[in-house]
Amino acid sequence: MSQKLNLEEHISSKEKKQGYVTQMFEIIAPSYDFFTVLYSYGMDRGWKRKLIEMLNPKGHERALDLACGTGDITFALGEKLPSGEVIGLDITTGMIEIANQKRQEKGVNNVSFQLGDIMKMPFADNSFDYVTCGYALRNVPDVEQALVEIKRVMKPGGRIISLDFARPDNRIYRWLYLNYLIVTGSLAGILMHGDADIYRYIPESLKRYPGQHGVQDIMKRVGFTDTGFRVFGGGIMALNFGTKPN
Ligand SMILES: C[S@@+](CC[C@H](N)C(=O)[O-])C[C@H]1O[C@@H](n2cnc3c(N)ncnc32)[C@H](O)[C@@H]1O
Repeated sequence: MSQKLNLEEHISSKEKKQGYVTQMFEIIAPSYDFFTVLYSYGMDRGWKRKLIEMLNPKGHERALDLACGTGDITFALGEKLPSGEVIGLDITTGMIEIANQKRQEKGVNNVSFQLGDIMKMPFADNSFDYVTCGYALRNVPDVEQALVEIKRVMKPGGRIISLDFARPDNRIYRWLYLNYLIVTGSLAGILMHGDADIYRYIPESLKRYPGQHGVQDIMKRVGFTDTGFRVFGGGIMALNFGTKPN
């Protein structure tokens, strides 16, 4: 980081969090794919497959993949929507550059990527049949405001599915999990970037995130229906879902 920002101070503040998050993802973008497979023991691929399975697209719809990163979910959606369209949106230049490189290599033409902020999206109301979020909601400064903005760009009847770290309901398991993430995240940060905070961000952001129950409550509050979630690994990961009413 050009100037090292204090982790706790920044991610506890709605005004300062995005600056920290964007700077951090610019640093990790080139090693993001490698780290994600390594840190999840390869399970990330399975969770993303489940997300696509649950969405079960028909083939001609419009989808928006938020916080698309290097485009895993965006490309997987593109394969399921051969006569549709998928846009991947991310706030980090480095991520969008890698996603665009992959797009060129794959030669797909129903997928595109845009630089942008979930909190204020460059899309008209009622634009998308589906919205997917892969580790998106934990990273934004305000989950409720993000969901209001997401609902705005969704078509009536449109569906959202969000994959993110979750908090196990069992208190002992939750304590063990958070501390496991602190230790392994700090070590990975030191080894890969010489900075423990880079991946200690994961448990610290998870502590401040409403989790699978909280996200469902917020979805209901902002007007989504058919809300719910599915957890994996006893509650370490979750897929939250909802529908924008007709
Ligand atoms: C952990 S990565 C997830 C990437 C990808 N979705 C995946 O599942 O592999 C989180 C992404 O969120 C992006 N992000 C963070 N805040 C954002 C915001 N306000 N708007 C758009 N993207 C954001 C970051 O740039 C980063 O690429």
